[in-house]
Amino acid sequence: MITIREEQISDIEPIRVVNTRAFGQAAEADVVDKLRQVCPEGLSLVAVCEDQIVGHILFTPALIEAKGQIIQGMGLAPLAVLPEFQGQGIGSKLVQEGLAAMRKAQQPFVLVLGHPEYYPRFGFVRSVDYGIVSEYDNVPEEAFMILVLDEVRLQEISGIGKYRPEFEAAM
Ligand SMILES: CC(C)(COP(=O)(O)OP(=O)(O)OC[C@H]1O[C@@H](n2cnc3c(N)ncnc32)[C@H](O)[C@@H]1OP(=O)(O)O)[C@@H](O)C(=O)NCCC(=O)NCCS
Repeated sequence: MITIREEQISDIEPIRVVNTRAFGQAAEADVVDKLRQVCPEGLSLVAVCEDQIVGHILFTPALIEAKGQIIQGMGLAPLAVLPEFQGQGIGSKLVQEGLAAMRKAQQPFVLVLGHPEYYPRFGFVRSVDYGIVSEYDNVPEEAFMILVLDEVRLQEISGIGKYRPEFEAAM
């Protein structure tokens, strides 16, 4: 059985392993470690299978810089499942639990930069449909997505969607 819960101090090393193995490199794991230091308001969830950490998801503050105002929401990244546990719905469970927490916290939006075939199943749409673009030039339009949780707050808002600057190291 898979359980989703918030990370504990003893999960830090296994979370590094999950991210490094899922992405095949340490860059994402390094960013997670940096963000843990600087974003106490972030949400870090793990998927546990028989006492083993098999998946991880992180939400950290993100911004939309629009004309004359900045709107604060959250950014989803990274999401990782150990290769031998992929394709069993663990990634989906992590996203769904995380988004439930974002709704509960009344976040107005969640940004994600990721696989365009994966995230629409959770309600994400291309952020460019809201007039929101990535700050990074090399991001394909369809890969930068948003889940709007407060349509009123996001009405007539267009601008630049920004993750925490620590993510630049993994771009
Ligand atoms: C993406 C990832 C987190 C999904 O986790 P998971 O537990 O395998 O996901 P689920 O079992 O809930 O869902 C499986 C679905 O994800 C899809 N998927 C997996 N990797 C994908 C990819 N690179 N691009 C698009 N879809 C992908 C599968 O095709 C499958 O689709 P289906 O349900 O239509 O058959 C996992 O594959 C992973 O860790 N990948 C490496 C790291 C990564 O790319 N992270 C995401 C960054 S945006």
